[in-house]
Amino acid sequence: MNILLTGGSGYIGSHVAVSLAEKGYGAVLLDNLTNSTADVVSKIEEITKQRLALVVADVRDTATVRAALRAHDVSAVIHLAGLKAVGDSIEKPIEYYANNVQGTISLLQAMQAESVKMLIFSGSATVYGLPQYLPLDEHHPTGATNPYGRSKLQVEEILRDLVRSDSNWRVASLRYFNPVGAHESMRIGEWPRSSPTNLLPIIMQVATGRLSELQVFGNDYETIDGTGVRDYIHVSDLAEGHVATLDYLHQNSGWHTFNLGTGKGYSVFEVLGAFERVSGRKIPYKVSQRRPGDVAACYANPAQALAKLNWQAQRDLVEMCSSAWGFAQSDCVK
Ligand code: NAD
Ligand code: UFG
Repeated sequence: MNILLTGGSGYIGSHVAVSLAEKGYGAVLLDNLTNSTADVVSKIEEITKQRLALVVADVRDTATVRAALRAHDVSAVIHLAGLKAVGDSIEKPIEYYANNVQGTISLLQAMQAESVKMLIFSGSATVYGLPQYLPLDEHHPTGATNPYGRSKLQVEEILRDLVRSDSNWRVASLRYFNPVGAHESMRIGEWPRSSPTNLLPIIMQVATGRLSELQVFGNDYETIDGTGVRDYIHVSDLAEGHVATLDYLHQNSGWHTFNLGTGKGYSVFEVLGAFERVSGRKIPYKVSQRRPGDVAACYANPAQALAKLNWQAQRDLVEMCSSAWGFAQSDCVK
């Protein structure tokens, strides 16, 4: 059974492709390569020992997406394509809505036309806005504080309307918490093409000497040590969550939301300490002002994913840091 992965050559998509192959699914990648490179295909092939197709196209090119669905006899789509930097989204909102919202509409038009009605969407914990309680379950009220978050919420609303209009659709939004780390082979991982803004990629830049120090955004939060707490999840666990969701959608129609997180939060200093132990490197840091828009703590209640998908994260913070570090030192990173 073939699954189309929009944004499939990106960080998360490449790991999902590996997990799909491990479970006997065929993956077809579709990506416009704005934030990834085509050489990821050979890396995935090296890991899975299977051939992989990459369609270089924009998800907004409805005709090409239709042709790809037909040509590869696709039965479900995992929609990861999109832009994801919160700061950029405030500066370039139209680009974000065009890629993330218009891109999804174009994809849905292609899927509808080809009668492919099973979809997993890359959602985000950002749709919970400012946490009113912790851990965050799927019933927590939603809200957004920036165009990126609003684009994710708008897509969820569009998907909900679609499912209401036609009961043949099977759609899940997976609300990712903080994906980090790399595949155990260290052939694929996260290495942003532009300056990173997320914690682990920045730590990697400091550890490899590309940046001189980490700025810790605030140490006066009401958390264990004053720094921000997040639910970091190993990208391979996250990827396996997609396969579990696919299995679930084969049994269940309608609209579904699932948190993909570990349920455990770590502070910036805890992540830093774990990375230093794993790598044997000292990471210089300076405490600076809080970053606007940041919350003190954000972590998941992942109980629904366990109950319904029979999925839970398996890998710990040490594995997250050691795989990220292994990838940062590999010849895959230039
Ligand atoms: P990524 O940038 O590595 O991957 C996204 C891929 O989509 C890239 O390869 C990019 O070239 C491609 N792309 C972008 N716009 C496209 C378009 N219009 N048409 C075709 N391809 C397009 O990012 P990622 O971390 O792998 O994220 C994947 C998805 O997960 C995104 O939708 C993102 O919003 C979501 N997400 C990511 C995180 C995170 O922290 N990484 C957290 C929550 C949600
Ligand atoms: N942090 C620093 N210094 C840095 C970068 C981050 O101290 O240079 C801190 C942040 O203040 C926060 C923690 O590290 O406390 C994690 O920050 P990230 O930027 O790595 O992640 P966020 O939780 O802010 O946001 C991420 C994604 C969003 C997504 C959200 C929830 O970037 O797109 O997780 O899934 F919406």
